[in-house]
Amino acid sequence: MIKKNYLLLLLIVTLGCAQWSCKYKTTAEHAANTDSIPGKKWWKEAIVYQIYPRSFKDSDGDGIGDLKGIISKLDYIKSLGINTVWINPIYSSPNDDNGYDVSDYRNIMKDFGTMADFDSLLKGMHERGIKLVMDLVVNHSSDEHEWFKQSRSSRTNPYRNYYHWWNAEKGKPSYRFSLFDINHDAWMYDSTTNAYYLHYFSRKQPDLNWENPKVRSEVYDIMKFWADKGIDGFRLDAFQFAAKDTTFPAFPKGFEKHFSLYYAMQGNLHKYLQEMNKEVLSKYNVMSVAEGAGNSFEDAHDLVDSNRHELNMAYAFDGVDIAKPGGYSLLKLKEVFARWDSAFASNGWLSIFLANHDQARLVSRFGNDSPEFRAPSAKMLATFIMTMRGTPYYYNGDELGMTNAGFTKIEDYRDMPTLNEYRHLESTGGDIPKFLKEKQFTDRDNARTPFQWDSTANAGFTTGIPWIEVNKNYKTINEAAEENNPNSVLNYFRKIVKLRKENPLLVYGKYTLLDKDNDDVYAYTRELDGKKFLILLNFKSKPAAFNTGIDISKAKLLLDNYSKPSDGNTLQPYEAAVWEL
Ligand code: GLC
Repeated sequence: MIKKNYLLLLLIVTLGCAQWSCKYKTTAEHAANTDSIPGKKWWKEAIVYQIYPRSFKDSDGDGIGDLKGIISKLDYIKSLGINTVWINPIYSSPNDDNGYDVSDYRNIMKDFGTMADFDSLLKGMHERGIKLVMDLVVNHSSDEHEWFKQSRSSRTNPYRNYYHWWNAEKGKPSYRFSLFDINHDAWMYDSTTNAYYLHYFSRKQPDLNWENPKVRSEVYDIMKFWADKGIDGFRLDAFQFAAKDTTFPAFPKGFEKHFSLYYAMQGNLHKYLQEMNKEVLSKYNVMSVAEGAGNSFEDAHDLVDSNRHELNMAYAFDGVDIAKPGGYSLLKLKEVFARWDSAFASNGWLSIFLANHDQARLVSRFGNDSPEFRAPSAKMLATFIMTMRGTPYYYNGDELGMTNAGFTKIEDYRDMPTLNEYRHLESTGGDIPKFLKEKQFTDRDNARTPFQWDSTANAGFTTGIPWIEVNKNYKTINEAAEENNPNSVLNYFRKIVKLRKENPLLVYGKYTLLDKDNDDVYAYTRELDGKKFLILLNFKSKPAAFNTGIDISKAKLLLDNYSKPSDGNTLQPYEAAVWEL
């Protein structure tokens, strides 16, 4: 019997491997044994691949990516070597903000499919050893959520206090800044009950009242619903803004320039997180990550200090915010990453990322998307993210080195805040050409264009009309072409992911910054239990010298993004090298 089962298992494994290794080149995996490492956690060893479902793969020709599309690409996802996926919101939503406006937290958005599709997706991921982290959007809901419909219907409705209302007979409430509103006014007047409701984001995203225990317990129930289905984690969207002083005191004039100081980590936020931890997170083997880490190290620490029982990790924006249209300072980037690393060197954990669905493309912002340097700079950036301490997050398409779409007309854009800002400028006589120029580099739609699968129509993303235009460069930059090229960004990405998985020092090891004042080269070591790696990254489009004080003549080169690596003390443009010392 045992023998029979064993043979069956062997057959399944062999067939399974044969099925996807013919399409995707993968290398044998040797996930390192990290059992003896203190503070070891699976989510520290996670390599997170972020999927933007709307733009990943369309299965039914309606021009919108969907769950069945993702299912059809699971073998590709697995072939990257990543072990965790974070998927942007897939719940029912009228899509004012592409799913970040949820109208039913227990159902799947029609555009994306059904709950049965979700169950198959989760099963397919787990079968491949991939964990799934879902977005939890509970600073606000959609105005089309049943709670809000009830809440706005009368002042005495039992759901009234699920949101923040200000009765108009008291006069206008103190100004609150809205990030997405056309007038940036976060109070929206609603004539049904002669009152204003609060929305830090768009008018269709009213803020939930976290001071109401009923709201909190509804959210915990929603979390349990998904955790019981077997998901592996939550990314808490905009959660740092959830707690509010409901007396709504006046803030100083001009506060909106630093709104985070007034909005983030207020009131009882930490108490709510401790409650959430007790009620839900502690009861499941799930990871938790907050978008935003407050305004100070204390804030960040309090969020992720394991003794406080709140969350596992958070991500701050200081790093990602550095890239500007005119370029950025590598010294500043080093300073930010070194600072955050030191803050969590002995307690707590952080996320490492330079791109996501709220940013323009990684290679266009932090690398160089010219034909000459796109591939080396994309590989160099992958080396950076995969060799830092913290949990790396990589946004879909960046593993191919996809670039900014660089739209030139407002008609090409789909993102609601961009369209609102444009309308605002139009009505106030603002400088529209300047705005469009800036958006070419910064707009988040740059990173939301369809995933480029191949060189067929619409990059193989859909047989219909894509909801947003495909990047014009899809004939040359696409997955199929990169699959066939051993030197592609994609195949390099697989190698650097594998290196991270096989070397726990890249996860847990001490980080030491070298050659700190070098404005071209980012150099550092990672070390653990007597093993030490040196990482050398040239962030510039010219050869660059470095001086780490380390003799590499006897070191072993583990990976380099050039086929002819340089030795000595100079790196080629955007060269990345990982040495074992
Ligand atoms: C977060 C999301 C962003 C969304 C906003 C409002 O910042 O990442 O995409 O627009 O929250 O939910």
